[in-house]
Amino acid sequence: MTQDQLKQAVAQAAVDFILPQLDDKSIVGVGTGSTANCFIDALAQHKAAFDGAVASSEATAQRLKGHGIPVYELNSIGDLEFYVDGCDESNERLELIKGGGAALTREKIVAAVAKTFVCIADGSKLVPLLGTFPLPVEVIPMARSHVARELVKLGGDPVYREGVTTDNGNIIIDLFNLQIGNPRELEAQINAIVGVVCNGLFAARPADLLLLGTADGVRTLRR
Ligand code: 5RP
Repeated sequence: MTQDQLKQAVAQAAVDFILPQLDDKSIVGVGTGSTANCFIDALAQHKAAFDGAVASSEATAQRLKGHGIPVYELNSIGDLEFYVDGCDESNERLELIKGGGAALTREKIVAAVAKTFVCIADGSKLVPLLGTFPLPVEVIPMARSHVARELVKLGGDPVYREGVTTDNGNIIIDLFNLQIGNPRELEAQINAIVGVVCNGLFAARPADLLLLGTADGVRTLRR
């Protein structure tokens, strides 16, 4: 199977998982990226089964609207049963690195609100130790140099992501060459640096369920 086919398989598995639990008042939280796009396309086949969605990025909002799915502001809704999104890396504890698509802050906000976070990924994303994928950090533009110096003290190699402005008007610094033994601690340490908006470690709020696409079918990992 190609990587695209694996993404489509896990996207369909996520739809199959949430669909029986949705009703015409349900709002679904939707992530960002190529795997999340597969999920949006699969979910759109069942748009009569739920009310609408909350989007974790402008790109996702546009794709949802393109399918005729109503998009709600997070502040205007009550409960959010599900958040479905991809990841850049996951460990066995379902702690994640996200933000390859620069949408990490809104993704983390929607994930925090959702009762169940369903992560969907092809099998290459499951790793024994987080950190091979450079850790994205969203930063207020004027704090770029200060934050980069502080990140060096934590042992990583910060690289400014050229030409990228987040949906919140900020910049991204990618932190290379980390071996993240304690994701929860590092997430808190980076967030404590003045000028950091958010970092791509999802350890304080990991996924609840990981649907992993493999050549043998979709594996389900639970926390
Ligand atoms: C965007 C993300 C994505 O979920 C992550 O980058 C994975 O993307 P893809 O599904 O395209 O591999 O965190 O900010």
